[in-house]
Amino acid sequence: MKLNINSDRLLAELHRLARITDCPPTEDKALLAPTQAVTRIVFTPRDLEARAWLKSLAQAAGFSVREDAVGNTFMRWEGSEPSLGVVGTGSHTDAIPHAGMYDGTVGVLGGLEALRSLKESGFQPKRSLELLMFTSEEPTRFGIGCLGSRLLGGSMDPEAADALHDRLHETDRNAPEGLSLREVREAAGFHGALGSVKLPPHHYDAWVELHIEQGPLLERDNVELGIVTNIAAPASYRYTVEGFGGHAGALLMPDRHDALCAAAEMILSVERHARAANARAEAEGHSGVDTVATVGMVAVHPGAVNSVPSRVQLTLDIRDTDVARRDSVIDAFHADIREIERRRGVHASEELINADQPAHSDPRIIAALEAACQAENATFERMVSRAYHDTNFIAPIAPVAMLFIPCRNGVSHRPDEYAAPEAIVLGARVLARTLAKLSMA
Ligand code: GLV
Ligand code: MN
Ligand code: MN
Repeated sequence: MKLNINSDRLLAELHRLARITDCPPTEDKALLAPTQAVTRIVFTPRDLEARAWLKSLAQAAGFSVREDAVGNTFMRWEGSEPSLGVVGTGSHTDAIPHAGMYDGTVGVLGGLEALRSLKESGFQPKRSLELLMFTSEEPTRFGIGCLGSRLLGGSMDPEAADALHDRLHETDRNAPEGLSLREVREAAGFHGALGSVKLPPHHYDAWVELHIEQGPLLERDNVELGIVTNIAAPASYRYTVEGFGGHAGALLMPDRHDALCAAAEMILSVERHARAANARAEAEGHSGVDTVATVGMVAVHPGAVNSVPSRVQLTLDIRDTDVARRDSVIDAFHADIREIERRRGVHASEELINADQPAHSDPRIIAALEAACQAENATFERMVSRAYHDTNFIAPIAPVAMLFIPCRNGVSHRPDEYAAPEAIVLGARVLARTLAKLSMA
């Protein structure tokens, strides 16, 4: 098949999108060039600007555009048999604070380039091809990741979603407090009931997401592409630890119930249990790196140098390829929390945000990806995704797989995230071949 990926256009668009950011250009000389710090949080003016620009590109390429009530954006190339299940690709363009320019965007703009170049090469799909830009893959604003895909796949209750709190004020002091998702999305121009977002059964015949690896394995193994066989199961929790605060000089040590000291023990506890789970797994012959636990946010009240912390809020993000092992770490952590509460005279309450299942790729789509790699003479290996992706939540309603390209030093969620132009272009080429093949099935 003749296939002319327009690499200059794709790379120029990636750099253009990176400039739609709320981060000031980085002054940090320690960061390797080319570096662009990107902050693009869902439904902010920057996100809306990126969406408008992306839609204009899709329309200029002759694709029809549909947005649903939560802002998931479908860009469709109608096939010669439009009643058949669709072949879909896509990813997200939202970015966590101070992120890089490739997470998600490579899948959206790489997907656009794949469709556009197939069209320009004279290809005519039998099944319709759809590029999808998901709303809020990142949990920054509403506290839960993959909001758009959860609603599309039916794994989130629409009313609960609409009631989610806007947390933008936690990272942006100027942002208003007390808004719900419903209020924020409507203000951004996305109306209608969230119940309407769920896709009909069998909408997708096949789904493939292109993404940067966000880890070091492809680079370490000197392999050009990764074919994702499964995606680790994520879970996240929010804890509030209530202690007893007071004057940092006058409140005597024997009388203290310091909420931050208790929280510090909790953080170390979950790290210890995650490491122990890995050690046990390794002793049983498994990889011994699949359990990961992160406390990424801690808010201390009242947050004064001379005040004993009375309340601490923290988040826990825990993931594993094996759900039972993930849950056993949580159980051990819970037991430690009870012990810390008793010993320190504090109270810790827990809010479960999400506890999801792993996703497994479909053998037919893996085979199509492998055939496309071979057609491009690209080296590839099968791998696990330890990051989560919208594909997790498309998996319950469609056969899925993912294609990874390497990123420098495995770095992601940082401004120095970097994927080589040749890797991006190769990813788009393999994606285009895969979509073409799947669309004729
Ligand atoms: C996605 O951004 C993740 O945290 O895996
Ligand atoms: Mn991300
Ligand atoms: Mn991503």
